[in-house]
Amino acid sequence: MVNQLLILYAGETGNSEDVARMVYRAAKKLGLQSKAMSISDYQMSQLIDETLVLFICSTTGQGNEPTPLKRFWTLIMRKNLPNDCLSHLNAAVIGLGDSSYMLYNVVGKKLFKRLQSLGAKMILDLALGDDQHDLGLWASVTPWLQEFWDKVKQLVPLTKGLNPDDIIFEPSYQVDVLGCNEYKPDIPKPQVNSGSIICNERVTPSSHFQEVRFIKICINNEPDLIYQPGDVVLIHPKNFPDEVAIFCSLLNLNPSMKFRCRQLDMNFTEYGHNNLPEFLDVHTLVTQQLDIHSVPKRSFFDLLWRFSEDDLEREKLREFASTEGQQELYNYCHKPKRNILEVLQDFPHTASKIPLNYLFDLIPGIRPRAFSIASSMKMYPNEIHLLVAVVKFKTKLRSPRTGLCSNYLAQLVKGDSINLTIRRGEFKIPHSDPLIMVGPGTGVAPFRSIIQERFMDKIPDNVLFFGCRFSNADYYFKDEWEEYQSKSHLQVFTAFSRDNPAKKWYVQDEMLANRSIIEDFIIKRGSTLLIAGSSNQMPDDVRNCVKKIIIDCNNQIGEDEAEKLVCKLEACRKIQYECWS
Ligand SMILES: Cc1cc2nc3c(=O)[nH]c(=O)nc-3n(C[C@H](O)[C@H](O)[C@H](O)COP(=O)(O)OP(=O)(O)OC[C@H]3O[C@@H](n4cnc5c(N)ncnc54)[C@H](O)[C@@H]3O)c2cc1C
Ligand SMILES: Cc1cc2nc3c(=O)[nH]c(=O)nc-3n(C[C@H](O)[C@H](O)[C@H](O)COP(=O)(O)O)c2cc1C
Repeated sequence: MVNQLLILYAGETGNSEDVARMVYRAAKKLGLQSKAMSISDYQMSQLIDETLVLFICSTTGQGNEPTPLKRFWTLIMRKNLPNDCLSHLNAAVIGLGDSSYMLYNVVGKKLFKRLQSLGAKMILDLALGDDQHDLGLWASVTPWLQEFWDKVKQLVPLTKGLNPDDIIFEPSYQVDVLGCNEYKPDIPKPQVNSGSIICNERVTPSSHFQEVRFIKICINNEPDLIYQPGDVVLIHPKNFPDEVAIFCSLLNLNPSMKFRCRQLDMNFTEYGHNNLPEFLDVHTLVTQQLDIHSVPKRSFFDLLWRFSEDDLEREKLREFASTEGQQELYNYCHKPKRNILEVLQDFPHTASKIPLNYLFDLIPGIRPRAFSIASSMKMYPNEIHLLVAVVKFKTKLRSPRTGLCSNYLAQLVKGDSINLTIRRGEFKIPHSDPLIMVGPGTGVAPFRSIIQERFMDKIPDNVLFFGCRFSNADYYFKDEWEEYQSKSHLQVFTAFSRDNPAKKWYVQDEMLANRSIIEDFIIKRGSTLLIAGSSNQMPDDVRNCVKKIIIDCNNQIGEDEAEKLVCKLEACRKIQYECWS
């Protein structure tokens, strides 16, 4: 059947999917024949058969397209596409981004322009969702969607009117509880690789503000697993046992209960639930599948209130789901980072009424988290090394907030098994160029992989700028760097921001203090500059520092020209970034 509306989404942390889910539900209520899918599962050639497509895409990295968009991006950006090839198509774009980034929402903006240049009729201006807004991305997306539906109603003849708001849609899955002899688990075809922990040690002293761990994983049993320097491992975490137990008790679920689940609605597959086995037990489902530790997104509240039979709880939850209730929801949930389990604990009567069939519509699947591989396969053929900062921080809530994956990793011990997949990183590393690497904090992880690989390949001219707080607390791999220095494989420059309380000193200060190296490597010898680590202020500071060095070493170059030169270096991958928040 031809889609009246196709929703294609691409993101990294679930926001695009959440917007897609809300749009899809609204389309269903309107009686539109619609389909929503990750753009990674869509063949661009099928666009020829579509009439109306809504693209929802975030920007990630330093202005990069998210992984699920990459294949489609390459195809749609091809220069030889005829400039009327999408003239049959009505389209709209929602870009999701964060205006604190230098390249704000560039992916949505570029996609919008590209669709236009290929002849697509853009039915509305681009929507720009911004994390920086107090009310989050919905602040601009909600009013935009109202206009969007008005346009859609003009374009597509509707068979049904809008359903009353409190009519609940059909569940996407059917869950049948099974007796023992009906439970026939298929042997699942592994979708992921597995490894086992060799060692897992804390590398910062217990007095240090942050727990950082060095973890070695054995991949002996995965002979086909190959990674390159700069690659990233995706770790598939599991929920904490105490939280699994609380969740089961809140929903009155017996952890050993077995069931069979079948997808009923094939028009929207949640990214996190797309490889769901048919036969499951509750304990496995809650431990490995449902992301109960994540902060709930808007679609969670949009569904939860409908199950409530308790007037007070229903009213409050309904308010959180409404447009008017977004400030309240922000204060209750998003600002303090209250998670799904905690919300359910606050609304116990409602939690106990959640039907099994709706669990997959309500709670997203657990997302794997990315970590840069910190080892070279040439040096450690059967191992993956990681340097992991354990995410723990305070909000106004009594218990500290903890990141699921880094805390899951932190408690693993020798011999524990772990699920993982390998993904290409952002860095394209030239084989023999001289390299300058700037990697403060755990940003040094990918550089350990590169430095080891180049040591094995005997490639010289490696410079590392490393920064951390204290020389005696979080200077990672100090002994290794010193050994490589002694073998003339590496030059290391360090910036310890808190060693001297009177003067903070960061990697960009150290680079300026050693500007002759930057001049020599980047300007004279055409080497590549790689920057990795926190995406907050650091990449901009390092970039500005390079610009300053360019201006200082050539007094005929002004600010604008230096900016152009840096852009050119970025475009030809002489400056590359792998940054994360
Ligand atoms: C390509 C890539 C490579 C990476 N490499 C590494 C690496 O080598 N080592 C490493 O340690 N990390 C690395 N990361 C980052 C890592 O993936 C994230 O930190 C990840 O979110 C940790 O997972 P988690 O489940 O523990 O935390 P999550 O549950 O995902 O929570 C992390 C989120 O918590 C929030 N948060 C964290 N700290 C605070 C705070 N102080 N205040 C308010 N909110 C906060 C932020 O929204 C953050 O996105 C990398 C990320 C990418 C994309
Ligand atoms: C590692 C990382 C890098 C990001 N880089 C950018 C960026 O360069 N520009 C931007 O506008 N937003 C950036 N963002 C913000 C995201 O686009 C924003 O959070 C969006 O809502 C995420 O949607 P998603 O969950 O669908 O990926 C970044 C977010 C993260 C976590």
